[in-house]
Amino acid sequence: MAFLGIDLGTSGLRALLVGEDGRPIGSAEHRCEVTHPHSGWSEQDPADWIAALEGAVADLRAAHPEFAGIQGIGVAGHMHGATTLDAEDRVIRPCILWNDTRSHVEAAALDTAPDMRALSGNIVFPGFTAPKLMWMRSHEPENFARVAKVLLPAAYLNLYLTGEHVADMSDSAGTSWLDVGARDWSDRLLRAGGMTRAQMPRLVEGSEVAGQLRGDLAARWGVTGPVTVAGGAGDNAAAACGIGALDEEQGFVSLGTSGVLLAARDGYRPDPASALHTFCHAVPGRWYQMGVMLSATDSLNWLARITGATPSELTAGLGTTVQPPGAVRFLPYLSGERTPHNDAAIRGSFTGLGAETTRDDMTRAVLEGVAFAFRDSFLALQDTGARFDNLMAIGGGTGSAYWVRLITTVLGVPLHLPRGGEFGAALGAARLGQAAATGAMVETVMSRPEIGEEIAPDMALHPDFAAAHAAFRAAYPAIREIQ
Ligand code: XUL
Repeated sequence: MAFLGIDLGTSGLRALLVGEDGRPIGSAEHRCEVTHPHSGWSEQDPADWIAALEGAVADLRAAHPEFAGIQGIGVAGHMHGATTLDAEDRVIRPCILWNDTRSHVEAAALDTAPDMRALSGNIVFPGFTAPKLMWMRSHEPENFARVAKVLLPAAYLNLYLTGEHVADMSDSAGTSWLDVGARDWSDRLLRAGGMTRAQMPRLVEGSEVAGQLRGDLAARWGVTGPVTVAGGAGDNAAAACGIGALDEEQGFVSLGTSGVLLAARDGYRPDPASALHTFCHAVPGRWYQMGVMLSATDSLNWLARITGATPSELTAGLGTTVQPPGAVRFLPYLSGERTPHNDAAIRGSFTGLGAETTRDDMTRAVLEGVAFAFRDSFLALQDTGARFDNLMAIGGGTGSAYWVRLITTVLGVPLHLPRGGEFGAALGAARLGQAAATGAMVETVMSRPEIGEEIAPDMALHPDFAAAHAAFRAAYPAIREIQ
């Protein structure tokens, strides 16, 4: 018996095969391109997701005979993307992604609709799905008129796998069409966004059965028995499943393209004004809250690009001992910011540059700017009553020991690095597939990973960083005014 977890990320699709005991058997990755036809736009062709999925499955089949015995599949995807389909399930236009801010005018208008924040639990951010459809209605009326269904990226893969329009609660919570407390589409919110329930997929919990793998796919993939496809999840909820963060005091810092600080919650306690996101979890009866910054490793990648160095060459120059806050300050708002500013137009800045400033100083400022943005989310989460004795640290950026030590010191809580390589959204998706296929209790399947290393904050430096964070916060309105 084996299970397949699929994580459709922004830069590529990762497929992970796990055994009955939850241990990884093998994985495969295929890249996906993002196009930016205009400034602030970000799109992908859903056909590339299918090609990446088929490529990853072919790799897994070739390397691991266990693939033939898969019984469950779960799909996690980057959230909020609008994949629009006509009445024959043909893709109408490229998917508009989570980090696309073209619909900021529509988002601001929709955000003032009666009961919008009360029912959806969130600000309508420009990256969310509903304003994207309003943008289509105004700018591409012929396309909009053909929209029979809108699917999030993970739900589009569910359609490919099962032939059914079906989405999970955690991903659907990021549309501004869902009543997040009631875990159902809201006719009121749909009406406000110019949509109807008929254009929405059927809803299931992430760990419930969404459907069965299509017979023709099963035959082509050489699968021997019936395969259950789970509801799946948005990528952050899936990552929470991957590290077993289901309950209060469990959460993670994810240092990826976007930076996420997530806390699992046992109830629905939205706080939209803080610009925190409050979404359904991928398992029944639970929610989670998170602060999202749009440019985390993206900020370091940008510095690497313009200096002609790799990100690891840049961070290697800093060693591993955290230094006190530097004189150079970086605001990491390269693509605007969600938490805490909800500002699609703000852009990044360096201040405090001098003739003596080195590449290392600028690298340090970038890492500090991202760490301060995490502290913004951390403080907002604390204000909602979330408490942590420690946080798990995941994502590509955790490869930098300096960055992880800096973030733990800026937050003032220990960070745990899980042992082994598999604990992210792909593992969470496989676990959802396992729960749906076997009916196993989610608490049993979503276990906590073994801790490889605990990184303790340098509490002697913490007050300096708290003061530097206050200055970082104060810089935002000033920079806002001159931009
Ligand atoms: C969450 C968000 C991102 C994407 C891409 O609200 O927009 O984290 O899910 O990973």
